[in-house]
Amino acid sequence: MLLFPLLFLVVFQISGQKEIVPSVNQLVIIANNTGPVISKDIYGHFSEHLGACIYGGLWVGTDSKIPNTFGIRNDVLFALREMKIPNLRWPGGCFADTYHWKDGIGPQEKRASIVNTNWGNVTEDNSFGTHEFMKLTELLGCDAYINGNVGSGSVKEMAEWVEYLTSGNESPMTKLRKENGREKPWKVKYFAIGNENWGCGGNMTAEFYANNMRQYSTFLGDYSGNNLYKVACGPSDWNFGWTETLMKDEGTRDRFQGLSIHYYSIVDGWGYMGSATKFNEREWFETMRMNLQMEDIVKGHAAIMDRYDPQKKKGLVVDEWGNWFKVEPGTNPGFLYQQNTMRDAVTAAIHLNIFNHHADRVKSANIAQMINVLQSVILTKDDKMILTPTYHVFRMFRVHQDATLLKTDLKCEDYVYGDKKLPSISASASVDKEGKVHISLANLNPNKSVVVTCPVIGESYSKITGEVLTAPEMNSFNSFENPDFVKPAAFTGFSSKNGILTITMPSKSVVVLELTK
Ligand code: AHR
Repeated sequence: MLLFPLLFLVVFQISGQKEIVPSVNQLVIIANNTGPVISKDIYGHFSEHLGACIYGGLWVGTDSKIPNTFGIRNDVLFALREMKIPNLRWPGGCFADTYHWKDGIGPQEKRASIVNTNWGNVTEDNSFGTHEFMKLTELLGCDAYINGNVGSGSVKEMAEWVEYLTSGNESPMTKLRKENGREKPWKVKYFAIGNENWGCGGNMTAEFYANNMRQYSTFLGDYSGNNLYKVACGPSDWNFGWTETLMKDEGTRDRFQGLSIHYYSIVDGWGYMGSATKFNEREWFETMRMNLQMEDIVKGHAAIMDRYDPQKKKGLVVDEWGNWFKVEPGTNPGFLYQQNTMRDAVTAAIHLNIFNHHADRVKSANIAQMINVLQSVILTKDDKMILTPTYHVFRMFRVHQDATLLKTDLKCEDYVYGDKKLPSISASASVDKEGKVHISLANLNPNKSVVVTCPVIGESYSKITGEVLTAPEMNSFNSFENPDFVKPAAFTGFSSKNGILTITMPSKSVVVLELTK
């Protein structure tokens, strides 16, 4: 099933094609004006002990009839590898600040059962713990992003976890790891010092958290050649005061490499939220409006960071983002299970384009969450698995990973709804190590196709291929009965003459073009 996009790719020769149709929409791409490298980690994911993200979604155990590798579902492993997942955040979220890692090591039958107090008060048997997570990252070929417990843990507990994971020395922690079957230390790239410590992670003030973070960070060692990229808990949304507190003092900012931010698009706020599948155009528009706000949020936090870190050594780590809707009817409200439609696909494209544009500061990001929770890329039901429209966007956009951002200039018509308007197009472009240019675009207008004139300046290209993701309705989605209803297809809606591309994008669509010299 996952091979189809490759089979459908078509080669489109530049010469002798249609006339250029002038349009109000213009995306100028300056192919020889490069910006920062787009870290592959912007395309990261998040897996929390929440609902069926870990249990059932990823982990079925070695005795399961569902085909698995060391207890991890094979279908999911294959799909995530195909999407080129660069890093995975675990074990939370709010769960992280109640998690005691020693509950999740050693023989499975001896592990402590606890209550997951954040998410449905269900029993957590800890059968998926440190060794299982690190095995998962090895099988995926991605980096580990581990979130430590500040809210209800201790400095000792966190320090020992890092030692257990990464140290090659002789010590009680490395002895314990070896007894549990792992001789060599693992590599851990990212380590977060708490999660949402202004809320579920302890209801701390920024000052109190900053002091705690300094203490915790002091004891997180770099062992055996592993260099932890420490992520301090940042704010959510527009809480610029929190960022200011974490950045202003050298003694604080010297103790982390990245500062997280969280931002969810919640239509009409927590009191309403709206359904993931049954929505009208007002809710579509409102979702797009909220998605586009990510740009101002990133700019606002980046501006504060620029004042204290003009060389941009610290990264902004957007480690929770996405659409948050009502749970599917009949499902546990604590499990945050929601369907995923064409609207979510456009959401993903908007966010990823924004992160690409801010690659000088945004060094990593994690959509919430990977499987069966919030804006998932994968949904599972027993032995069945489906890929969501959001999955397809991540797979299409993987070409930007570790590519270099290109300078672009976009002017476009408005998408008007009532007396409100938004830009109708989102776009970004990059050049990869082989010199191929990739242009990713989204048409936010659910009613109207748009024609985009795209002069590519500075270089010429002889071959263009493309893929498009669109659907008949705003709320089209993939179900277990019809898993491929929304899927990418070859895109032929473009022509090229004298270095100017003319792209006709269907309504509510996402397009990625590849230009080869
Ligand atoms: O992603 C769901 C929850 O949202 C996370 O656990 C928490 O960090 C955030 O509030």
